[in-house]
Amino acid sequence: MALRLIQGGRASDGLPGLLVEHAAEVVTMAGGMRTGARMDDPALLAAPGGDAGHETAPAVACWEGRIVAAGPHDELLRALDGSGYPIARFARLDAAGGTVTPGLIDPHTHLLFAGTREAELVLRQRGADYLEILQAGGGILSTVAATRAASEEQLADHGRRWLTEMLSHGTTTVEAKSGYGLDLPTELRLLEVAHRLGKEGPVDVVPTWLGAHAVAPEFRARPDGTEAYVRYLIEEQLPGVVAQGRARFADVFCERGVFSPEQARRILAAAARLGLPSRLHADELAPSGGAELAAELGAMSADHLAAPSPAGIDALAAAAGAGRPVVAVVLPATTWFLMHEEVAPARTFIDRGIPVALATDFNPGTSPTPSLPLVMTVACLSLKLTPSEALAAVTINAAAALGLAEDVGSIEGGRQADLAVWAVPSHRQIPYWPAADLVRAVVKRGKVVLERAPA
Ligand code: NIG
Ligand code: FE
Repeated sequence: MALRLIQGGRASDGLPGLLVEHAAEVVTMAGGMRTGARMDDPALLAAPGGDAGHETAPAVACWEGRIVAAGPHDELLRALDGSGYPIARFARLDAAGGTVTPGLIDPHTHLLFAGTREAELVLRQRGADYLEILQAGGGILSTVAATRAASEEQLADHGRRWLTEMLSHGTTTVEAKSGYGLDLPTELRLLEVAHRLGKEGPVDVVPTWLGAHAVAPEFRARPDGTEAYVRYLIEEQLPGVVAQGRARFADVFCERGVFSPEQARRILAAAARLGLPSRLHADELAPSGGAELAAELGAMSADHLAAPSPAGIDALAAAAGAGRPVVAVVLPATTWFLMHEEVAPARTFIDRGIPVALATDFNPGTSPTPSLPLVMTVACLSLKLTPSEALAAVTINAAAALGLAEDVGSIEGGRQADLAVWAVPSHRQIPYWPAADLVRAVVKRGKVVLERAPA
């Protein structure tokens, strides 16, 4: 299929309205963040007998970048015309019997870096361990060296390339962490580029400060290196990041052998005092107290969670039960790419009422995929999520993980008009065709920003 990226929206879009019509299915995800059995309810609108040409087949109306309503085609048109949205002022997008979903949201990526690390894949095949590669100066530290040497323009070009890939897989909002600088100038450069790329559009970018991704190389030779780096983060790097004003969250790699829960607590508490809500890389490789800390701090999300302790799961369940949910952002492409047998107990999280989101974790070491549909496939196969749960996890629950569930992640009146149109008649087929190009079109803020010619 020929892919056409449309600068600034489709030419015919001088019009304020956009009507997406002839869908076999519209997945609204209406009704807010999902937990428990509700994760499996995508709030569907379906064409009778799958007939997308039927007068009651679902359509979505957008006006000046926002969703007006979704509903049966002819009824929707009559309602629009009678409420000050003249039909002649709507451009039309033909879903051609496909599925319309909210634009996908990727709530955990390391979008910006320089260099690649394909050699580590072979090292891991031969039995090398992820943290051993890091302690030997490879892993994250080799990406730090390459990233420090990269200019702002080089990082921006890289970011644009991969945001375009993400968009072509249906993603319209991306969280992007720093963490490959570990010194103030490079961390600021990463956050600035993330912010700038979001302003350029079409994909929205949410920058997160991850200065505590690893101990910076210049601190590592010292016997008190980790502690000295933590003090430097709190006293120098964090204030610089806050003064710059680009980061929206603070994150720490809380893991046995990297940063302890006690160190993570100090860093995140300092960040919270300066206005940055917390997220955490928690219990990726071993039970490290990360889930417990996320619940204690009321973090927005606890991410990875491939090896949480029973007490950590209890803490997340208790937080959810008390109405202070921490979203479990599960990263199944990472455990897959690391060839780890232990995966996040996502079914247990759902059974215990903990909201689950999915993300790519896009990064050069542990998960170089930009594709949320592929992540959905891996989630269905290795975590036993249903396709509907997986879709909730990359739309409304991913939005909740970023504090954006009032604005994106569902198709409801008043929400930002971010949509993905898929060349399959049911959302259950999105994870069913691994690595196929299923995206027919993407709408961002009411504009068609990507369109593929029908096959
Ligand atoms: O989320 N685990 C820590 N950080 C990243 C990987 C970073 C890297 O290896 O470059 C992650 O998997
Ligand atoms: Fe990560």
